[in-house]
Formats: sequence, structure tokens, C-alpha cells
Amino acid sequence: MSRKRIIAGNWKMNKTPSEAKALCETLIPLVGNDDVEVVFCVPAIDIVPVVEAVKGTNIGVGAENLYIEDSGAYTGEISADMILDAGAKYVIIGHSERREYFKEDDEFLNKKVKKAIEKGLVPILCCGESLEQREKGVTIDWIRLQIKSDLDGVSAADAKKVVIAYEPIWAIGTGKTATSDQAEEVCAAIRACLAEIYDQETADAIRIQYGGSMNASNAAELLSKPNIDGGLIGGASLKADFGQIVNA
Ligand code: 13P
Repeated sequence: MSRKRIIAGNWKMNKTPSEAKALCETLIPLVGNDDVEVVFCVPAIDIVPVVEAVKGTNIGVGAENLYIEDSGAYTGEISADMILDAGAKYVIIGHSERREYFKEDDEFLNKKVKKAIEKGLVPILCCGESLEQREKGVTIDWIRLQIKSDLDGVSAADAKKVVIAYEPIWAIGTGKTATSDQAEEVCAAIRACLAEIYDQETADAIRIQYGGSMNASNAAELLSKPNIDGGLIGGASLKADFGQIVNA
């Protein structure tokens, strides 16, 4: 089963539109690799300039969030149609920062996943445990619960379009990466869970990324694991290191 690797940057709340254009100019020459799907997930206001800047390259663009309705009185939100019309094709859903700071729960995230799929956006669905959960030994149970709830009612055909990002919360922005064995254990458990919900063929088709302090020095080791098909990169996606991760 060959799954195309997907390396995505999550810029989070960094880069103004003009800084975004400059960063694209820095990164474009570093990330040319046809064997890898390269994605820049950027703040909503940066989507248009980034789409423009990466035109003609191998880079896809994604949003960091979307709302579950198509249009209407939802001040401050952006819809799937807006994201698509701006030229982006991916959307991050359920990042732990949104779960924590914006109180997004699995029921709501499930609606976001369905909306993204309905509209033709590729959801990058995040899951991950806290340090407390890891220490209590409930990591796998927790991740299984997240995956099952977030994909509730999603068909096997649609699930194949989803990218799952395993991001242990304790490894995000902390410089403390999961070991490749820890990351592989959870990514394998996610695939087993997908095989249970759907079937092995579907589980084998779904790409699973690791995220959490991934950088130029640990990427190759993490990406050498059989169930890790890519990375979702925060801090290191804002600098030249991102190119090294793409080519790791
Ligand atoms: P860092 O790579 O900065 O740890 O962030 C990971 C992340 O949250 C990507 O979504």
C-alpha cells in the first residue's frame, strides 16, 4: 500500500499578508519535491496572497479553520466556499489549540469534517493527548474516542479523503518531540481504529501525520516509521527547516 507523503505547515497566527508573501519566496525553492504533497496552512487573511505566491509550484494551500454553515450571520467566521474560492484546498480541523482555547468539542468538529468533505476540501483532522493522559496510560483510549467521534457518520469513501494528524499536546511548541516509537505506536493504533470503523483497505488508504516539535533533525527518523505518512509542522514551517523536512 503506497500512500503519498504529506508534509503540511501550520503557520498558526503568524505572518501578515506581506510577511506571508516573503516567506513563500524563501520556501518555494526549498520544497520542490514531486514525491511529497506539500501544503501551507495559513491564516485566513493570508490565503489569497499565498495562493498567488505559490501559483505554478507543487505547493497546496490550506486554511486553519472553517465554520459549519455555508453563509449567514456568523460574525468573524469563514466558510468552506470562501476558502475554496480563495484557492485553498485543505483545512485543519480540531487542532488542540482550537479545542482548548475556543472550546471546540468532538460533536462540533464532526460537523466541520462533514462540511469540509461535502464541499471538497481535504480535512486535516487533528487528535492528541495531554501529558496527564499519557502519564495515566489512557492515550490510546482517548485518541480512539476522538477519531470515532470526529468521523462519526463519515462513509469509508469519504474517510479516504481525510488526513489525520496525531499531535500529542505535550509535544506542541515545547521542543519535546515524541520518540519515533511513541509516535508510531499511536499512529498504528489510529490505523487499527480506522480498520475497525471501516475496513483494512480504507485504513490503509488514509494518511496519518505526526505533529509536535517536528524539525529538520528529527523528521527523517519519525518519517521512517511505517504508519507515519507525513508531518504537520508548526514552528519549523516558518523557516528554511521546512524544506529539509519535506526532503527528509
Ligand atoms: P510545533 O511544530 O511548533 O510543535 O507545532 C506543531 C503543531 O501544532 C502543528 O499543528
